[in-house]
Amino acid sequence: MKVKMKNGSINTKTVELIKINNIYSLKLIDQTKLPHTLKYFTTSSYIQGITAIKEMIVRGAPAIGCTGVITLILGIQELVLNQEFSIPRILEIKKNIIEARPTAKDLESFVERFIAQINLNVINMEEYVKIANDLIGESENECMLIGQQSKHLISENMGILTHCNAGALATVDFGTALSPMRFANSENIKFKVFVNETRPRMQGLLTAWELYNEDIDFEYIVDNAAGFYMYLGKINLVIVGCDRVLKDGSVANKIGTLEKAVLAKAFGIPFYVAMPWSTFEPNLENASQIPIEYRNTKEIKTIGNCNNIVPDFYPTSNPAFDITPPEYITGFITKDGIIQDHELYDKFLKLNYKTS
Ligand code: MRU
Repeated sequence: MKVKMKNGSINTKTVELIKINNIYSLKLIDQTKLPHTLKYFTTSSYIQGITAIKEMIVRGAPAIGCTGVITLILGIQELVLNQEFSIPRILEIKKNIIEARPTAKDLESFVERFIAQINLNVINMEEYVKIANDLIGESENECMLIGQQSKHLISENMGILTHCNAGALATVDFGTALSPMRFANSENIKFKVFVNETRPRMQGLLTAWELYNEDIDFEYIVDNAAGFYMYLGKINLVIVGCDRVLKDGSVANKIGTLEKAVLAKAFGIPFYVAMPWSTFEPNLENASQIPIEYRNTKEIKTIGNCNNIVPDFYPTSNPAFDITPPEYITGFITKDGIIQDHELYDKFLKLNYKTS
């Protein structure tokens, strides 16, 4: 992704596997520091990799999936260096990684795909790194294709609403929901993005930061304002990302997605979900089985450095995701084109995509 700096701009990626002094490390853009400072978080410790996922130094479904794979490589490296390697220990680390954030399918699907492809009986770090980089590259490429397949949805002077951050920061690069916007912008189509702030973690700031860096017109709005802008006729299209998509087309995504979908349907505005196949869940039958992450309520009692917005003794709860039923979704944007809920499972089977 492009980032404007004082002396021009640089290109960077959200998640990378790097080698420093012969030791493999995880390199992440530290998303807790954005939009104010571009800082990187680097570690060769698998425990720190897990913490980075939990504390949302990296967040967004494909980004945490790729981070999970690199974290597992760090785990193997650490056990080998300490002469503590055993397959049960690796499987335990794998489990801890997958449990770091429960809702996004990608964390499980990337880590399981990786472990299914490697041979743990003959340690070969170079081979593991190659397989990891292939998976990471495939994910980046899929996001690029999502954008190319759906840029035609965006036309001159449109107002587009997006929720949370399903941009390059939530993936390796390009993003899912923001990918068509990147491609439409590169073809000089003029449109405006309405960016929901996305309380409590304010991922809207990450989206605004990406759009600012790409010179895409945007307005940052509070979550409650989306309905009013729809009422005013300023929003013609909604595109969001997803964290887990069931066979029936039910979508788990950032809390607040559901109400935007219901509003969009009420106002007759097309509502699209951009979906990499790593997010598709073939194993759960019912949306009530989706593990919804409830995060620490400290996140809603504070804003930035301001503590005690909410008195500590007030009861609070902090679900991080909600579920949008398929009847509110106009279509799923995939690398293979735009498809309908009833086509999801067939396409998935045809791709022979092994998630877990
Ligand atoms: O809690 P987060 O910031 O990890 O939630 C992210 C989202 O809900 C995104 O919309 C989703 O992961 C899609 S990312 C391409």
